[in-house]
Amino acid sequence: MLYSLLRPILFLAPADVAHSFGLWAFRRKTIWSILRRFYGVRDERLEIDIFDNRLMNPIGLAAGFDKDAELLHSMSTLGFGFLTIGSVRSLPHPGNPRPWLVRYPEQNALVNSLGLPSKGAAHVVSNLAQTHLDVPVFCSIAGESVDDFTAVLEKLQEHVEGIEVNVSCPNVERDGTFEDDLVMLDILVSAITEKKKRPILLKISPFLSRERDKMLQIVDIAKRRGVDGITAVNATPIPEARLGVGRGGLTGSSVRVEARRIVSEIYEEVQGKIPIIGIGGVSSGKDAYDMISHGATAVAFLTALIYSGPGTAQIMNKELLEMLTKNHFSSVKELIGYHSRTPS
Ligand SMILES: Cc1cc2nc3c(=O)[nH]c(=O)nc-3n(C[C@H](O)[C@H](O)[C@H](O)COP(=O)(O)O)c2cc1C
Repeated sequence: MLYSLLRPILFLAPADVAHSFGLWAFRRKTIWSILRRFYGVRDERLEIDIFDNRLMNPIGLAAGFDKDAELLHSMSTLGFGFLTIGSVRSLPHPGNPRPWLVRYPEQNALVNSLGLPSKGAAHVVSNLAQTHLDVPVFCSIAGESVDDFTAVLEKLQEHVEGIEVNVSCPNVERDGTFEDDLVMLDILVSAITEKKKRPILLKISPFLSRERDKMLQIVDIAKRRGVDGITAVNATPIPEARLGVGRGGLTGSSVRVEARRIVSEIYEEVQGKIPIIGIGGVSSGKDAYDMISHGATAVAFLTALIYSGPGTAQIMNKELLEMLTKNHFSSVKELIGYHSRTPS
């Protein structure tokens, strides 16, 4: 409600400025302690189990909003079922030259070219050590080499419930992603799973329909090497002259249909044996419902937080409950993969 008044003013400012203001506001701990009671939704039908965690609901925060674990207090008051911090690098990194963000308001979409800025793993560990939350926290990790990834993994894994390995960021210095060279990806994934002490998720790119075989080869590497879940998907690379580096990753409503197709294809492949976190353009309870019925165990979002504000997770959960009732599902657990399992 308050956000619908604030948003037109925020959106008059350049997207980078509005984003920095949003991060500043989410650092004000006292406000969010007071607002906490307005955002919770508790209902047994929303609960899901993932790895060893019982989540209060299946709607999480995607990686990239709280990169350095500095907003966990406020984020934990907003009704999310889980939070993903990061992506965290082993050492501090400034990211790409600004501007970093361009809005496409007609499509409720964004293009970002942050390039994984990070205050580094040591900073994040010290922030996590000071925080005690009742919401499970997962951490996305990134790097430029196998040693880089394993260094962050070893520093961070014991402080969080699970690790998401970001091999799919489109905004890095090198051309392409770690998925371009499957031999290299295999080496990376096995180095990580050999050292794992927590469940590992592999976050993949939004592969086109014609790249389905390659995507399934990546899922196969993940399964063979003992990865525990797949996060699908990261941002879609596009050119954008207004960004500092002239290109970025598209997110938000424009990518929703493709993200759902990918979740469905992966679900058919893994047959529910490992969980999928569905990400990309989820901005309503209906979007969450559709993503889960196509095979996601849980969903997460980021762009909708920027367009719809702090009440988004709560609204989505309420709408999701309404959709469950309307379609005669007793729980989210029963909904998972329903569409993919049922011939249309
Ligand atoms: C500003 C911004 C920063 C992001 N940073 C990261 C990141 O550090 N690591 C990562 O894995 N994904 C990152 N993402 C991608 C999101 O986690 C998510 O995959 C993508 O935004 C699609 O979801 P959405 O449509 O709900 O935003 C970022 C996205 C945005 C918009």
